[in-house]
Amino acid sequence: MISQNPRITVLRTVQALRQWRDPHRLAGRRVGLVPTMGALHGGHLSLVRLAAAQNHHVVVSIFVNPAQFGAQEDLSSYPRTWDADMAALETLDRELSSGDGGRAMGKVSAVFAPPTEEMYPEGFPGQEVNSKGSFVNITPLGEVLEGRSRPTFFRGVATVCMKLFNAVQPEAVYFGQKDAQQTVLIRKLVRDFLLPIDVVVGPTMREEDGMAASSRNVYLGARRRRGARVLSQALAASSAKYDVGVNSRADILDAANSVLDAYLVAEKSKLPSERVKFELDYLSLADPDKMEEVQDVDSSKGAIISGAIRMLPVEEAQPGEDLGHGGGPPVRLIDNMLLLPKTR
Ligand code: PAJ
Repeated sequence: MISQNPRITVLRTVQALRQWRDPHRLAGRRVGLVPTMGALHGGHLSLVRLAAAQNHHVVVSIFVNPAQFGAQEDLSSYPRTWDADMAALETLDRELSSGDGGRAMGKVSAVFAPPTEEMYPEGFPGQEVNSKGSFVNITPLGEVLEGRSRPTFFRGVATVCMKLFNAVQPEAVYFGQKDAQQTVLIRKLVRDFLLPIDVVVGPTMREEDGMAASSRNVYLGARRRRGARVLSQALAASSAKYDVGVNSRADILDAANSVLDAYLVAEKSKLPSERVKFELDYLSLADPDKMEEVQDVDSSKGAIISGAIRMLPVEEAQPGEDLGHGGGPPVRLIDNMLLLPKTR
């Protein structure tokens, strides 16, 4: 339910945003920005909470950015849950104003939710690899891992974040560790383009079974949702290996691969009406600062283990079976875990 007395200002244009923003700068009030594509869940809200602990005003942007979806990807079916998003932010803001255990400094002051024309004033340049237009390209980082299977993805993310940062002019921006490569990309964007912004990364929020919260989980439906935890389990197995002192790439990746393989073998023995299949896109063991693949993990630096799987549509859907949002399309899931530096 939307409250009768909304506390959060909704801004739809860059001009309205600037009018809202200017007095806060003059008054020396810090503004933190949490960029999102909506369909808010606990992961997004944890970033808003973190931003409110460090800033007087938090702006949450809600913009489903077409430039980061491939031509064949789920732009039109991407979940849009405006009323629930606003209700969640209003509720969180109420909690913050009642103290939030003494952690809150500021409030959720504004939601910036522009239409596409506002973000792409010369017209949206298109989603094709060879589309012409004004883009921010960060290479080679944007070409590896997620960028390999989604060639326009990081160009879209870097471009829209540059626009959002210029529009809001925040003191700090908040991103989730869940999208590890995105955090590395944003840090690089800020450094390489000399932006006067602090980049803060919040931890990955997980559901009870360990699966990372994601707006895309609604596409899974109950059967695939049960199977989808295999990714976090695989990464956790690698992380556990590192924790007991194993540093070799082969051994760390083997631990994740064995969990994935065992899962596929077990599912194969089930009936088609019950089983769940996925394809592995990649498993990576990379340096946490550049996302470059490493051999043995340097314990003084740590590493990041990440992976992506593609959950395939279920076979032999049963009458009345919950297939998920959009009728249960293939769903690409990503996750990662930090292998933290070890002090001797
Ligand atoms: P979106 O997928 O909506 O995510 C918005 C922010 O929430 C990102 O920083 C993401 O890493 C973070 N997030 C998502 N799931 C999380 C979880 N389980 N725990 C912690 N944080 C989580 O990422 C995007 O949107 C877009 O690429 C965007 C940066 C908004 C640019 O369009």
